[in-house]
Amino acid sequence: MFSILIFLIIFINSVISSHDHQKPPLPVIIDTDGDTDDFLAILYALKSRELDVRGVTYQGDGWSHAASAQNIVDIIDDIYPGKNLPVILGANYDLFESDRNPKTLGSPGCFYQKSVSENARRDTDLLYGLNRQLRLSKRIWYDALVGFNITKNFADLIDSTIKQTGKKPTIIATGPVTNIATFLRAFPTYTKRIEKIVWMGGAIDVPGNLFTVPNNTRAEFNVYLDCVAAQELLASDLNILLVPLDFTNKTPLNPGFFDKLSKLTSFYGKFTYKLLSTARAASFGSDSAFYNAYFLWDPKAVAVVKNIGISKIVSNRKLAVTCEGKENIDGQFVSSQILTKANFEVAIDALVSNPVEDSPFFNDFLDVINKD
Ligand SMILES: *[C@@H]1O[C@H](CO)[C@@H](O)[C@H](O)[C@H]1NC(C)=O
Ligand SMILES: *[C@@H]1O[C@H](CO)[C@@H](O)[C@H](O)[C@H]1NC(C)=O
Repeated sequence: MFSILIFLIIFINSVISSHDHQKPPLPVIIDTDGDTDDFLAILYALKSRELDVRGVTYQGDGWSHAASAQNIVDIIDDIYPGKNLPVILGANYDLFESDRNPKTLGSPGCFYQKSVSENARRDTDLLYGLNRQLRLSKRIWYDALVGFNITKNFADLIDSTIKQTGKKPTIIATGPVTNIATFLRAFPTYTKRIEKIVWMGGAIDVPGNLFTVPNNTRAEFNVYLDCVAAQELLASDLNILLVPLDFTNKTPLNPGFFDKLSKLTSFYGKFTYKLLSTARAASFGSDSAFYNAYFLWDPKAVAVVKNIGISKIVSNRKLAVTCEGKENIDGQFVSSQILTKANFEVAIDALVSNPVEDSPFFNDFLDVINKD
């Protein structure tokens, strides 16, 4: 009898694990700043069956103006038809500036935001004009503008996620974390209602990427663009998993990747090929400059959340973020005396194949966006 019971338990267990792929998807909220790779990260998340995207919050203090939220509405309504997922507009200015100079925002201040040129924002706002080739939604994002309140809307989104899924949401942050820091100032106890925040940001043991602020060699844009928000995030009791440049650098784009991408047959596979080909041609001077400077940073944070075995996670780092209003040193992760909390983790090592375009991240990304 006893052995039959054991057998039964083992049998049931193996049935459950063989149906693992059918387990309910992970509820996520994406907080974005609208660069091309943020757009691709949202596309990848929407099309990944492991994830249940509950809404997108948008900030205009990064790589695009927040009006390009319309692009996100278009892909959400196409991929999740009828769901009317919230796409919520948040901060337009970094906290350093809005705390100190609330009356003069945008002129002449906001030096962090000046590190992104208006030409870059022009390109990303309209996805180089390719956004007209998306399957356009009837939902006009402007209609949602009335009554936007990032703190209240964020809280409502978290509450409805818990109510409807029985799970706390994971937040995937792909830009500066102004919205999240602003939200936590208003609702500090909500850290307990968030499973984890996975943030593409920072450069730990590798150079930064502020090509427009060449004297600042160690900062990464998402941290630099709102270093006050970064400090507040680190000081909170949120579970944080950082996906820094150390990780994203390991799987660069190359001609082999473009070759694979060019062969995709789905609507979004072809769209992604056009988008990345245009970015390569338009913004970097030469192909080799593009391959050195442009990475699929944010889709890699999505892949880390999907937990498909592409990363090695480490914790117990002693790190702090610099933020003094000095462009040459701000936004850097530096050593600190204090051990960063146990709930701060870093994805440091990526699984890389040879050739690199065969790495698990690329295989999954291409596979998912090529699904019709
Ligand atoms: C946003 O919502 C919060 C929480 O309900 C409220 O305290 C705050 O006053 C609202 N802000 C605006 C600008 O309406
Ligand atoms: C950057 O560094 C160079 C060389 O040290 C210096 O001449 C220049 O003034 C610096 N620029 C800024 C904006 O600090």
